[in-house]
Amino acid sequence: MTSTLICNIGELVTNESATGEGSPLGLMRDAAMVVQDGRVAALIAAGEPLPQCDECVDAGGAAVIPAFVDSHNHLLFAGDRSTEFAARMAGQSYEAGGIMTTVSATRAATSEALLANALRLAAEARSQGTGTLETKTGYALTPDGELRLLDVANQAAAADPSITDITLLAAHVAPPEMSADDYVRLIVDGIIPAAAGRAQWIDAFCDVGAFDVEQCHAVLTAGAAAGMGLRLHANQLSNIGAVQLAVELGAASADHCTHLSDADIAALASSATVATLLPASDFCTRSPYPPARRLLDAGVTVALATNCNPGSSFTTSMPFVIALAVREMHMTCAEALWSATAGGAAALRRTDVGHLGVGAQARFAILDAPSHTYLAYRPGVPLVRRVHSQPVG
Ligand code: NIG
Repeated sequence: MTSTLICNIGELVTNESATGEGSPLGLMRDAAMVVQDGRVAALIAAGEPLPQCDECVDAGGAAVIPAFVDSHNHLLFAGDRSTEFAARMAGQSYEAGGIMTTVSATRAATSEALLANALRLAAEARSQGTGTLETKTGYALTPDGELRLLDVANQAAAADPSITDITLLAAHVAPPEMSADDYVRLIVDGIIPAAAGRAQWIDAFCDVGAFDVEQCHAVLTAGAAAGMGLRLHANQLSNIGAVQLAVELGAASADHCTHLSDADIAALASSATVATLLPASDFCTRSPYPPARRLLDAGVTVALATNCNPGSSFTTSMPFVIALAVREMHMTCAEALWSATAGGAAALRRTDVGHLGVGAQARFAILDAPSHTYLAYRPGVPLVRRVHSQPVG
């Protein structure tokens, strides 16, 4: 049993609405926190006596926040799409077809290279305050290839405890060698049964240029039958009814949510499906931003994630996403931080991360700043001094 006292915390964000200054961030001022064997053991308010611990970390008056929960990523890839990005910035539009460039490079890459790339990106994310990461397959699009990516993802998770959630996204786009209907049959009859036990989640890209609602319904229900939780790429490029499908099937998360009708927002508000917004992709593809304000005002649970991938959003920076959410999507600084931490945890249906209540995993970041507001107030500045995200002992 080792215990660590984090003392002299100027602002402690607990995300416990019953704690400190209450909803949504549960702020405590001039506080301290005890961590024991990887979990939060005690929160100590200003003026209360500090316990004896094995070691002490002096936060020096800085803010301490739950480490970010980045619930949507595509870290299993090879290759580079900077030329496509430059062309887009010169006026070309973003289409799902660019995914095939990454598919070719990923199919040709060794598993060692894919693992090294995923771990490099996870380390990059961690240095910017991320303590929990989801990652997807989706750049192989063959049975052997998708299963190989799942194996690499599991190796990455074993090597880096911040990678906690693995998603099968065989239904990213149809490979050029077969029709979408034939590929969906292959996913349902071949890939999903073989993937059971290797992925916690099943996902599909439900949009123009990818898969329609009926095809995604088939993939998600097959995944559910194999024991996987459901997530869906929904309403990124258009509105073909993906959010409605996610809600109907009880998906944990509908991701992107850029093009939403009032009925979509109402459906999300009356469900347990989290709307995971990925504004870095909208930034990098010069697309409209999702209607975060309408979602929040309707009572929808909103998460923020980076969507790190080589095509639409090659960033691992949750602080950048927070700055976009505040400046471009009119979320408050508190809402954006909550969505990047507790919201991400809700999107992964996890109660052990994304907050610093007693008993939570001690995944937290010490900022080089006196308050969480600085994450949006000082955009582009590296403000994360230290991240703690060791597995529970
Ligand atoms: O979430 N929308 C589909 N998939 C990724 C983009 C993948 C790519 O362009 O390589 C996304 O934005």
